[in-house]
Amino acid sequence: MPYTEISPLARPIISQIVPYEPGKPISEVQREYRLDNVIKLASNENPLGPSPKALEAIKNALPDLKFYPDGAGYYLRRKISERFNIPDNMIVLGNGSSELIELICEAFISPGDGAVIGIYEYFKYRITMQIMNGLIQWAAMPGLNYDPQALYFKGDDRTKLIFIANPNNPTGTMLTIDETDWLMERIPLNVITVFDEAYWEYRNIDLYPNTLQYVKDGRNVVILRTFSKIYGLAGLRIGYAITTPEIAKALNTVREVFNVNSLGQVAAIAALEDADYIAKGRQMNADGKRFFYKELNRLGLEYVPSKANFVLIKVNPRGRSAANPLLGREVFQQLLKRGVVVRPMDGYGLKEYIRVSIALPDENEIFFDELELVIG
Ligand SMILES: Cc1ncc(COP(=O)(O)O)c(C=O)c1O
Repeated sequence: MPYTEISPLARPIISQIVPYEPGKPISEVQREYRLDNVIKLASNENPLGPSPKALEAIKNALPDLKFYPDGAGYYLRRKISERFNIPDNMIVLGNGSSELIELICEAFISPGDGAVIGIYEYFKYRITMQIMNGLIQWAAMPGLNYDPQALYFKGDDRTKLIFIANPNNPTGTMLTIDETDWLMERIPLNVITVFDEAYWEYRNIDLYPNTLQYVKDGRNVVILRTFSKIYGLAGLRIGYAITTPEIAKALNTVREVFNVNSLGQVAAIAALEDADYIAKGRQMNADGKRFFYKELNRLGLEYVPSKANFVLIKVNPRGRSAANPLLGREVFQQLLKRGVVVRPMDGYGLKEYIRVSIALPDENEIFFDELELVIG
């Protein structure tokens, strides 16, 4: 694509924003590199795809596509409210949880208002804050982990929001139960804590903070979940927030009325009902992760143990000369030519890293065969 300058008519902040680089779709890689077989391990989708029950629900809903969707998402919100035993006025649906991040900033960030964000936290928070002319209050993440003290002490009287992706993308690290409690005891009551739980279904139940209790207790907390990951419905763009009725009302006020499409709504309801399918996805991910770690150890590569369905990998084998390190972007390019799409991490300042989604067993094997050839 030829390089184009941004319109001078755009708001000044817009030209300063570095847009996010999305994972390349398979069809584009096939076309660009003239490849028949391409595997995509770049966007943390569920390699099993949607539950057959969700596909059936989509098929049944097709004849009604001429109608606008239910703008209130009545049946899906009711389903979620029953699942978590909360009233449905505490649930807001979004066009993916990405849109809910936007709604939160639109509803609560005036120019100059602050949000505490970890330096390696999911890109969407920083971009959305920039769009709103908000103030980003960066918190250190030593060793790619959250530091509750850094999150807490970065806040001041300008702070309106704290974002915590649990676990975080791209690091795969998370705030523990004790760290969450420590933080929640200190965060002022007028600050909204956003727990982005996009990978919640992959969690270890015994080690996961009970954030829902904070919402039930009336704290200013927003929990974000999505149907894009374990539910395999990323293409339909559907996520939800659980929060206080007052925050929900603010989000609904800025929300586009028909933000969640009708196929997404029926598919999500069916997906929530298919517990066996979710269990299968979780098990496959756990097995795949074990295989990843085994292979990474064999290749002498450092990685960050992950609480999600992807692994952040340092591409330079231990002992390789620091004077001439391989860059994650080079490895990404080389893998692309070989039909394997992963994600370079230089956008996060992690130049020696790639992030790789755990896929089907044979795709995982192909990835490691190709990676071994690329890193030599
Ligand atoms: C931490 C985190 N939050 C939110 C999202 C957005 O998910 P979606 O908009 O598809 O619901 C992602 C997607 O990768 C993510 O990793």
